[in-house]
Formats: sequence, C-alpha cells, structure tokens
Amino acid sequence: MKTEINNKTWKWWPLFPLYPYGQKKTVFNELLENQIWSLEQIQGLYYVAVPIRMTIIKVSDGLMLINPLPPTTELIEEIKKLTLIHGRVKTIVLPTASGLEHKIGLPALARVFKEADIWVCPGQWSFPINLPLDFIGIPSKRTKVLFEDGTPYSDEFVWNSLGPINLGLGRFQEISCFHKPTLTLHVTDAIVGIDRNPPRIFDYDPTPLLFHSRESGDESLLDSPEARKKGWLRLILFSSYLKPAKLKIPSIKEIVKNSFKKDLRNQKSHFGIFPFLWADDWEDSLSEITIEENVKIQIAPVLKKLIFPRSKEILINWLMALKEFKNMKYLISAHYSAPVNFTIEDVSQLIDFINSDNWETDDANSKFLINLYKKLYDLKIIPNNLEL
Ligand SMILES: [Fe+2]
Repeated sequence: MKTEINNKTWKWWPLFPLYPYGQKKTVFNELLENQIWSLEQIQGLYYVAVPIRMTIIKVSDGLMLINPLPPTTELIEEIKKLTLIHGRVKTIVLPTASGLEHKIGLPALARVFKEADIWVCPGQWSFPINLPLDFIGIPSKRTKVLFEDGTPYSDEFVWNSLGPINLGLGRFQEISCFHKPTLTLHVTDAIVGIDRNPPRIFDYDPTPLLFHSRESGDESLLDSPEARKKGWLRLILFSSYLKPAKLKIPSIKEIVKNSFKKDLRNQKSHFGIFPFLWADDWEDSLSEITIEENVKIQIAPVLKKLIFPRSKEILINWLMALKEFKNMKYLISAHYSAPVNFTIEDVSQLIDFINSDNWETDDANSKFLINLYKKLYDLKIIPNNLEL
C-alpha cells in the first residue's frame, strides 16, 4: 500500500512511533497579538494522545522557536508566513534534557532553518547509549549549550534552570525563560494548566476522544460534544497517572470477547480491542487535577511522582527564582492550555502546596506511579544521589 504524501506528512515517525504516526495535523494559534504564536500537534500511544506545543516568540531581530516539533510542510508553511512579517527564524531552543517528545523534531527542524542558532539544555542524553549531538542529528557546529555557552537574547529573557536531577540513565533538567516584553513564563513540562474542555486540535480528528469515551470495545465510535469531553477527561487521567485508580485492565478473555465485532473490524476502532474498564465513579479521579469552569495550574502530576519525590528542594528553589518576576502575567507550557493567567501569587501557592502535607500524600490515583518509582529505585535505576 502506498502512503499518500501531503502537507501533514512526517516521514521520520518510525524513529519515535507515536500516534498519529506519519500524519500530523498542525494547528496554528496567535497567543499574544503580534508577539507570541503556537503550533500544536497531537502525540501519544494507542490513542492516549495529548497535544504538544512549540512556541514562537518575536525577538529583536526575528523569531525564536521553543520546544521543537516535527516540521511537516504544514508547520513550515505557518512559520514561513510569520517570517514574511517578523523576520527569519534566528534561534531554536530545546530547553529540556529528558523530554524525548520535544527532542525528536529538532534535527529535521534544524535542517529546515539552516541559519538558526540552536540552543540546548545541558546534559542531552540518548538511550540506550549516550551519543554525541551529531549522532542524534543535532548539528554541533551551530549548537550552543544553555548557561555553558551563555543564554540567547539575555536582554529580553531571564533564563532559569530546574535541576539537574540525576536519573541514573540520564538527567532531568529543564530551562524556563521569562520573556520581559510580554511578561510570559515559558516552560516545557514542569508546570501545566489543565482545562476540562478538549483542545481545539481535536476538532480535526476527534477519534482519540471518541475511542476513549466508550465503556467497552464493542461500542461504536459516536461523535457528540459530551463524548468528546468524556474522552478528553479520560485522556487527562491517562497522561497524569498512566493508570488511574478507577481504571482496570480487563482480562485477555474479556478483551477478546468484545473485539472484532461487525462494524468494528477497522483500524480506526482498533478492531474493537479496548483494554480498559472504567469504574462508574471514574470522574472522581479528576478532583486532584482539574476544577470546574477553570484551568487548574499545577506541577505536572507525572513529574510530581516520578521526578520530584527526592528533590522537593530543587523544585522549590526554581519556583523561588520565578518569584523575581514581579509583574509576570502568563504561563505558556508545552502541554495543555496556553496562555494561562499566571502571577507570582500562583507561584507562591505552588510553593505552599509543595511544603504542605498534601504534597506527599499517596493518593489512590498515583499508586501505579508510586510503585513504578519504588521499583526503579529498588533496582537502583534511580540512584540515591541527586548530584550528577
Ligand atoms: Fe513534554
């Protein structure tokens, strides 16, 4: 079968085989008028697909891209429209050492914008073996390392490091930046603002939402605003907890019983294979991470349980540094809602929460993550020592 090539084609998808594989829709948004824009795609496993964002900021002599995305023709065309008005892409920043989903697009993006300087977070690592930058496709000749080689546009931005934290196989580190002209804080994964309403990108293909809105594999994928919202809320739970408390994985026998039914013998519905069983009160699991009618600002739940149990102090130090931005107004992160209203009061609330007993509580939803962390720790994959 010949695959159609169009402006959404991403031919390098087998390098990191995440849904929607070789076809990636890109959605363009202006976040702050004439200053900041975003491009979003969907990325995920088995329809557990969440949007991922690259941010474009107007800088003094052109454009800066933060958190690279795979450059489909559609994505490149959107950036080129901006360059006609605001000047060339001068800088591409990869501000994370560990977030593979943000790294995968960088080599191809760097080849598209051949004159751009590339800035990367220190300690880039590859798994299973650590390879030099050029081996993973990042052109070392025009690549600089944040802090080790300075920082880009230091008069327009304040750069802060969260970490490094030794993960054994590599490090967790992300570099945030505060853009003074727009009073925006840019982060990759650490802080997110989660909204209960599905993001606009799913308007182009709501399949992942409809897939997860069902109770069993023999149900058809029916579209309605309610089904989309239900699917989205379940995707939030998956990506926050991997396996939330109210979700059971049915037995193989049960899964097979509901599979391959008439009307479901197609790829779109995964042939009826649906290895999920939600409890009736599954929505209760949302109370920690979402609020009705508003965006809930929080430390990303997965990082909270997998990265920060040993390193509360490092997280607080970084947040304390953010309190310097007295007039801060917005948060723009690489996942979930953006821009989100975000001031130093919000930072103080995060710090207070981290310092409270509630931060350490082992809630039922996090059981899977907590056990995963314990296993990695017992196997000494996560080392005792935080330092590198
Ligand atoms: Fe991420």
